[in-house]
Amino acid sequence: MYLKGENIGFGYKKSNPILKDVDISLGSGEILGLAGDSGSGKSTLCKILAGYERNYQGSVSLDGKKIPSNAYNPVQLIFQHPEKAVNPRWKMRDILNEGHVVSQDILNSFGIKKSWLDRWPNELSGGELQRFALARALSPKTSFLIADEITTMVDAITQVQIWESILDIVDELNIGVLVVSHDKKLMAKICQEVVDISHINGRS
Ligand SMILES: Nc1ncnc2c1ncn2[C@@H]1O[C@H](COP(=O)(O)OP(=O)(O)O)[C@@H](O)[C@H]1O
Ligand SMILES: [Mg+2]
Repeated sequence: MYLKGENIGFGYKKSNPILKDVDISLGSGEILGLAGDSGSGKSTLCKILAGYERNYQGSVSLDGKKIPSNAYNPVQLIFQHPEKAVNPRWKMRDILNEGHVVSQDILNSFGIKKSWLDRWPNELSGGELQRFALARALSPKTSFLIADEITTMVDAITQVQIWESILDIVDELNIGVLVVSHDKKLMAKICQEVVDISHINGRS
């Protein structure tokens, strides 16, 4: 299966294009890095690929077909700030299982403790909350994961633990991953290839 963005063009204002003729292709099971200067449009491209931003030029397709907007999104986007992706008034158990019941295997893999399930989001650290966001996103119906600076806010040990869990699960489920990070060492370690979007967009 392939997730493709072809000739993607986008600007928040017409007078200021952010992305120009960007081509990107991600296959099942592939771990692809996306690099680029701050402000070069990495997060914007992530949102376009995951269907969060609809007003773009070019096309995004999954095996040549448009991604349905009225069903489970097989392209799951995870952000840098997990606290923005959860309802602060829900207990973690409800947040976790909103879409489907997350398997015990996945909870174990992310080191999610039983006692955390009875907490509110603000009673967890950023790294703990990010584990929930990932556990929820890596469902059997997910084909691609877009990881936009997901471990930028956590310490080095937590970063390694989180990525080890992700890589295990995506390997098992044959999920393709787009990794956006400023951490060149991390990218070199986990990605098969890295594309630089500042270059694609003709910026320095
Ligand atoms: N919602 C928005 N409205 C207007 N401009 C935005 C918005 N989001 C991002 N931008 C601008 O678009 C450019 C690209 O942003 P972004 O995609 O977040 O870049 P990156 O993730 O590579 O740092 C930046 O100049 C940023 O200021
Ligand atoms: Mg960004």
